Amino acid sequence: MGYKLISTWKMSYRKMSEVKEMLKRKYSLQEIIEAVIMAVEDNPDFQSVGYGGLPNSEGIVELDAGYMDGDSLAFGAISGVRNIKNPILVASSLIKGKTNNYLTARGAEKYAKEKGFKSRRMLTEKAREKYQNRVKENSHDTICVIGRDLNGSMAVGVSTSGLFMKHPGRVGDSPIIGSGYYCDSQIGGAAATGIGEDIMRGCLSAAIVNYMRQGLNAQKACQEALFSYLKRVNNEPKAISLIALDKDGNYGACSTLPDFPFVILDENNQARLMVYRGQEKRIIEADENWINSYQGD
Ligand code: GLY
Repeated sequence: MGYKLISTWKMSYRKMSEVKEMLKRKYSLQEIIEAVIMAVEDNPDFQSVGYGGLPNSEGIVELDAGYMDGDSLAFGAISGVRNIKNPILVASSLIKGKTNNYLTARGAEKYAKEKGFKSRRMLTEKAREKYQNRVKENSHDTICVIGRDLNGSMAVGVSTSGLFMKHPGRVGDSPIIGSGYYCDSQIGGAAATGIGEDIMRGCLSAAIVNYMRQGLNAQKACQEALFSYLKRVNNEPKAISLIALDKDGNYGACSTLPDFPFVILDENNQARLMVYRGQEKRIIEADENWINSYQGD
């Protein structure tokens, strides 16, 4: 079975297109997941992740990230950090400890500084203007990447600046293991993007992995996790999108949105932009028309 990778949103497409080259240069799975996420974190055009992320109600950008290694089940996470250039690198470094795996706010920043992670003023002029005008658009959120290497080792990483205008200190699903991400190489991995409060109520990433544990493939597990949760909450309107990859290399995606774009690597290690169509409950490949008409990240 070939190398497998799935990531959220169109914003991940450009770096996913470079994975083929990274594989030739023998990047590890962790390095590839980090590279895809860092490319999104570093791009100020994407206003829901990293540099250029939209700020909280006090005009401060607070970032969350998580990483999980599916072989050891080790995880690392940070939340509410300010002025850290690449939150994913700080989160993934925390998988090494037996304790102190999830650090928050000033403690996480102190750790990042001690370990020499780069800092950066994360509020861009564009984000500051939006904050001043309270303009909300392009509010798609978390970059999530799940991978499986040629040895069957799996991992997942996520990074976000969370909700625009959130209360200072508000943390969503992304750094919360089982909600924003989960991965077990013996079963599969899953990750979520959308309104964190909705996702946390259903522990949706853990739910998907549990459905895969029961034998469902990645697609069926995403559908079962989302639709049974929506039923449980009386079909209240939600903004939730999910991706998964099972140990056999099958991809899955599901969403409450009309269109949820995500990216996969095909059998030739080429990136392909796919779309889960919420109304039709099916996945299509994005064509030029779709790409030209899509307004989001
Ligand atoms: N899903 C990201 C957040 O709600 O913060």
